[in-house]
Order: sequence, then C-alpha cells, then structure tokens
Amino acid sequence: MKSAREFSPSITWANFFHDYLQDLQAKDLLRSLVPVQAAALPRAIVDGKEVILFSTNDYLGLASDARLKRAAASAVEKWGTGSGGSRLISGNLSLYAELESECAKLKEAEAALVFSSGYTTNIGVICSLAGPDDLILSDQLNHASIVDACKLSRSTVLVYPHCDTEAVGSLLKANKPKGKTLVVTDGVFSMDGDLAPVPELLQLCRRHGALLMVDDAHGTGVLGPRGAGTLEHFGLEPDGVIQVGTFSKALGSLGGFVACKAVEARYLVNKARSLIYSTALPPAVLAANIEALRVVKEDTGLRFRLKKLTRQMKKGLSSLGFSVSDQPTPIFPLIIGSSREALRLSHYLFDKGVFAPAIRPPTVPRGQSRLRISLSAAHRQEDIDRLMGVLSRYFRRGA
Ligand SMILES: Cc1ncc(COP(=O)(O)O)c(C=O)c1O
Repeated sequence: MKSAREFSPSITWANFFHDYLQDLQAKDLLRSLVPVQAAALPRAIVDGKEVILFSTNDYLGLASDARLKRAAASAVEKWGTGSGGSRLISGNLSLYAELESECAKLKEAEAALVFSSGYTTNIGVICSLAGPDDLILSDQLNHASIVDACKLSRSTVLVYPHCDTEAVGSLLKANKPKGKTLVVTDGVFSMDGDLAPVPELLQLCRRHGALLMVDDAHGTGVLGPRGAGTLEHFGLEPDGVIQVGTFSKALGSLGGFVACKAVEARYLVNKARSLIYSTALPPAVLAANIEALRVVKEDTGLRFRLKKLTRQMKKGLSSLGFSVSDQPTPIFPLIIGSSREALRLSHYLFDKGVFAPAIRPPTVPRGQSRLRISLSAAHRQEDIDRLMGVLSRYFRRGA
C-alpha cells in the first residue's frame, strides 16, 4: 500500500503543459510570440520580413515620433533609467505632478492619477471603488483588465448585453445592493471599434445614484476636437464620471491614468494596491507621456490625417463588400468566423507583406474570430490601397 508521501497525481506537470498546448493547437487557438524589429510606422520587420503594420494601437504614430524620443532621451540624461521605488516611498518623481496636471486638463477633471499601465489602472481603480457589498454592472465586451478587476473586487458582478442601455436600466432598478453601484464600460471597444452609449449610461447612473466609469484606452488622443476622448466626442461634461485612459495607445508610450475628482484621487492613493505596491514609472516614460499630451494638444493635424485615412479605409472596405459601421474610430473588425479561416487570411496577408494577426477567442467571442485592422496617422493612401489589393485578391481567388 502507498503511503500519503508516495501519492502520485494522475496528471503530471509535464503532461499538463503538453496537453494544454496540444488542445489549443487542435482548436486553432495556440498563440506564440513573434519578434518585431525596427518598428517605425507604418512599416516594421516582423519575423524577419518587412511588412506594413495594420494592427497597431499607436493611432497617431507617436511611438516613433522624434519629439517623444527627444523628451525620453533627455529625461534619461537628467534622471537616469529607473524611479527606484513605489510612488509612496521614493519613486514619485516631480515629473508625475506635471503629467497628472496635464492629464486632468485634457480630461477636464479636477485631478488625475498615473499608474504603470492601463491594466493596473483598471485593477487598482475598480478594486478600490467596489468591494463585497457592492454591485458592478459591466458590458459584455469590456476589456479583460476590467473583467479581471471585477472578479478581484469580490463585488456582485452583473454582465449586461453589449451596449444595451435598456438592460442596464432594468438591472439598476431590480438590484439594490447593500453598498454602492458602479457601472463600467469601455469608451471605445477595442476589438470592434464601436462606442459605448455613454450619454444614456450617464443619465441612468445619475437617476439611480450609480457611479459611471469609462475606460477610454482607445478614445484618448483620437476622439473629440481636442483628442480628449469619448466624453468629448459626445459633448459630455465629465462631472461624476471616473475616466480611465492609457498612454500605451494613441499617446505612443506606456502607463495608465484615472481622471476624477481630487477627493477620489486622494482616496485611490490610499487604497489602490496596484499603485501602492508597484514601482513608479521610469523618467523616460513620464517625460515621453508629458510630451505626448503636448503633441496631442498642439499638433491637431495628426488627428485630422487619421480621420481622413479612416474615411478612405471605410470607402475601400465597403467597396470590397465588407459591412462598415459609421463609427468614428480607426478600428475595423473584419469578422471571419472560424479561427482557422482567420489564421489563413492573416497568413496570406503576411505573405504579401501586410501584418494583421488573427484575433481569436478568448479575446473575442467564439465564432467571431477576425482580423482587427487598425490605422495610424503614419499610414498613407498607398498603404491602404495595398491592403485593399491584397484583400481583394484573397477573396477573389475564393479563399
Ligand atoms: C480597453 C482597454 N483597457 C485597458 C487596456 C490595458 O492597457 P495597457 O496596455 O496600457 O495595460 C487595454 C489594452 O489593450 C484596452 O484595450
């Protein structure tokens, strides 16, 4: 007879990893990391091959902008490469105060608080706002960082059908938690490029005493006359809205932020564990972020160019027979359906010098695998023409 010490599990660690990966492979869901070299939009060397990128979140092309590079390089010269501690110990470099003041101005909020990434912003903010006695209503297509944060908060989480304000109204009426209610939504949905019905959600929240949080990772820098994002696009006052943004997309750098009331920012400094227990951002990143906000404010031509390209892309895609929404974002989901077919199209494009990886479950719902085509202000009309030519050849030859 075996003793407890000799217990041998039916699944060994070696089998576990192997079987897990094999299962993904069989379902066309295996992912792997592809080396990207020398990216300078719209071109990059991916896996050793020069391609035009149609998969970037660097919507304004700022990640390789000379102004941001200079700001980052001179910050390294002046401050060094690391912050040396968390913000509450010794890492709160004075660059943070300037950056947060500019964020608050962009979002027309009283205050802003910068975190290390958009992901950790959502984790820190949601887990600080809502706890076990509270209720969170969350859109079905919210970003994974919101989904994870909701779980981590231990609140009651009700997921409502995508952008369904009637459902939100009914849920708010029917569910009265012991504590507070938070409604959370992406401003621009990252994989579909559509906008949340923020005006209606805000009205409902005000009527029911709930707080609205809008994660505007993909709207910041892109939407609205000043690039302030989804609220500005809708002409809404940000009063009473918790606005999350990132520096990692249109702002071409790294980091996340929340723009809110001063008292809320002070509360988060004392509560948000992902801010308290993580090292502050390095000076180069902070300086690049400050410069990015300046560029967004002053170089309005970038947004203008992006809008023009967006119109051209819509025209091209609809002439190929794709249904194109009238949303103002530079994100175009080409829904293919099966993961295998989406991979096939993506490989074909790569072969022809265009990079747009297949987006598959769990990033998107099952049966909705797609290519997520996105634009940046650095693209030119001839890049779009090239993409249209390749897509047209693929679909003409009968896939
Ligand atoms: C809506 C949304 N929120 C948050 C994030 C996370 O931001 P970051 O990449 O800066 O961590 C993303 C990134 O893809 C996103 O799309």
